[in-house]
Amino acid sequence: MNMMINPERAAELDAQAAQIMQANDRGGFTVPTARLYPYQWNWDSAFAARGFAQIDKDRAWQELETLLEAQWPNGMVPHIIFRRDDPDYFPGPRIWQSGTTPPSSGYSQPPVAATVTRDLFEAGPDETAMPRARALFPKLLAWHRWFHEQRDPDGQGVIAIAHPWESGRDNSPDWDEAMSRVDTSKVEPYERRDTDQIHAEMRPTKADYDRYIAVIQFGRDCGWDSMEIARNGPFFVADPGLTFVLLRADRDLLALADALGERAAVGEIEGWIARAEAGAGSLWNPEAGAYCARDLRNGLASDGVSSVSFLSLYAGLKAPAQETANIASLTRVLAACRFAVPSFDPEHPKFDSLRYWRGPAWCVVNELIGRGLAERGYGDLAGRVRGDTGALIEQAGFYEYFCPLTGRGAGGGDFTWTAATWLAWASPKHFAASA
Ligand code: DGY
Repeated sequence: MNMMINPERAAELDAQAAQIMQANDRGGFTVPTARLYPYQWNWDSAFAARGFAQIDKDRAWQELETLLEAQWPNGMVPHIIFRRDDPDYFPGPRIWQSGTTPPSSGYSQPPVAATVTRDLFEAGPDETAMPRARALFPKLLAWHRWFHEQRDPDGQGVIAIAHPWESGRDNSPDWDEAMSRVDTSKVEPYERRDTDQIHAEMRPTKADYDRYIAVIQFGRDCGWDSMEIARNGPFFVADPGLTFVLLRADRDLLALADALGERAAVGEIEGWIARAEAGAGSLWNPEAGAYCARDLRNGLASDGVSSVSFLSLYAGLKAPAQETANIASLTRVLAACRFAVPSFDPEHPKFDSLRYWRGPAWCVVNELIGRGLAERGYGDLAGRVRGDTGALIEQAGFYEYFCPLTGRGAGGGDFTWTAATWLAWASPKHFAASA
């Protein structure tokens, strides 16, 4: 598909993507998009760094550095960093009351940053890459340790989320059952801002928001005590997306430890990898033919195929029978859609082609899935995912996400991570290099 984008058009899109990244730059960190998301978001910044690496390496490192500046003393790296209050966004710093400088949210997000740090380090073994990677390494190590200890307190080898926002897939059907049990009777009055800017059909519902706020209030009221949240919080669900992104990031952190001579960290990281390799298979749901979320309060698995199931390849998980079934699910899901990869199974009754994480395709997830497929030798599927990603952007623009049936762009426009994914992976300039 990418092959059909002519060189002039591709160059135009390369320039447009770079302009979007520069326009969303707030001086050392990017916002995902103006107004709708006016702060620094965690995994958005990691993807932004990958995009910046194509145009300005120094700026790419800086994006990771500013993200990790906001690390909490317990190692957690928050999912939103509030450097100044902005009335366009709810819930802002006054709701979270993190007590940190800079103020932030109280949850994390999929830790893509170590993977991007490794990519940057390996791409630029110059006099700056070594000290910058060295400075980031202990922070990344502490963050990963926080995930393994506080989001997998029983050492099962699967990583839980304590709020749907921690997964990055806010209103995925994966969380419906567990969220339906969240008590919203004490939710304080609030006013959403997102639906002032984006059509309500593309955003989570009011019922979703009430529950999001109820879960935040629990965290805030216990002073963001991670272990209290893990043991008694209203929501604690093992997420295949987080489990796989962290497993991959641990492998990349291990490679960095080797390259940087950080010998003391090697055993600990190897232990995390071994635990995930042994435990991640417990998320396999044979009826769904996919890796599914599991509610750690009652053991119930979700029943639908989410796009993050296909990140098992990116994670380097070796489980031949499950891999065959997972690839069959991907093939079926792609056959039902014009554009790869729907965030939720288009043949499931809960599929919703435009509503946030209940169906639409997201370029950043496509990038991770595509990389994993290519690395494991599924060249045709990798080519489809990458080609469709380029086609979506070429036809609709740099939207936050896209309808996988029609290709219509949805959510915010001029989106940093879509521009970054174009620059780093979907632009035809990369196409000849690898699938
Ligand atoms: C939002 O506000 O919609 C964000 O996705 C939370 O991270």
